[in-house]
Amino acid sequence: MEVKLAECAGFCFGVKRAIDTVYEQIETGKTIYTYGPIVHNEEVVRELEEKGVRVIEGHEELAECAAEVRKAADETARPTVIIRAHGVPRETQELMEQNGLECIDATCPFVKRIHRIVEKAGEQGMQVVIAGNPGHPEVEGIRGWCSGPVTVIETEEEAERFTPEEGRQVCLVSQTTFNYNKFQSIVEIFRKKGYNDNIVSTICNATEERQRSAQALAAEADVMIVIGGRHSSNSRKLYEICSRECAHTYFIQTLDDLHLELPKAVRLVGITAGASTPNNLIEEVQNYVRINF
Ligand code: F3S
Repeated sequence: MEVKLAECAGFCFGVKRAIDTVYEQIETGKTIYTYGPIVHNEEVVRELEEKGVRVIEGHEELAECAAEVRKAADETARPTVIIRAHGVPRETQELMEQNGLECIDATCPFVKRIHRIVEKAGEQGMQVVIAGNPGHPEVEGIRGWCSGPVTVIETEEEAERFTPEEGRQVCLVSQTTFNYNKFQSIVEIFRKKGYNDNIVSTICNATEERQRSAQALAAEADVMIVIGGRHSSNSRKLYEICSRECAHTYFIQTLDDLHLELPKAVRLVGITAGASTPNNLIEEVQNYVRINF
């Protein structure tokens, strides 16, 4: 039996950059917060917590942090807040600065690019449409950089139903982890309706590469294992894609979740992992399957 890892799997550039930033900041000995969990992977977050990194959830907790700033006797005692790869709305970033927190922006440059696109589109009076999951922090962040009207659509049906406000041009962008094929269908619908002046595909290559290589591997595998955080949207999408190709697809967070029962006829087990899954977890699963089956 063969065990094969998808060609592209695990940490993407933006996530690695954000985590490296946190580790660099730990070295300074200051109090470190991350605004929201730094990645959608509980293992990574737990490891950081053990090193004293605290997670702030929302504006209220930011205010508590600000109280700490006021108590701080000198500069070195001032806590640092790190913005994670997903980014935050403009308002949140301004709130951090107004409260005197040292703010380190580890927003992935690809997400930052979307912020700039929608900011400019808003200034030009356009209606921004984001293809993505409205509840996802990245989408909330993007929304927060639009100064004019903004709509989030998730499905082709919503794209069919959408009409912009009268007299407004449309600027269409996507969440970086949006499904590539779904975005293409939405673009088609928008083209047919004549809303095609400002369509920018902002799906990240890392996502596309992971989705394509997961699909290719799942198509030939008898069993597929997807490793990723429960709240990681890109990992869940990999699971969706793999399940379509391979009926025996497992979604796990860590090795403990894996209860594999492999029939004798299995020739190939494929493994892939979301952009927030660390390498050591991937290796652990890979070794386990190799040794035990
Ligand atoms: Fe950035 Fe792409 Fe990763 S947008 S955070 S490199 S999935």
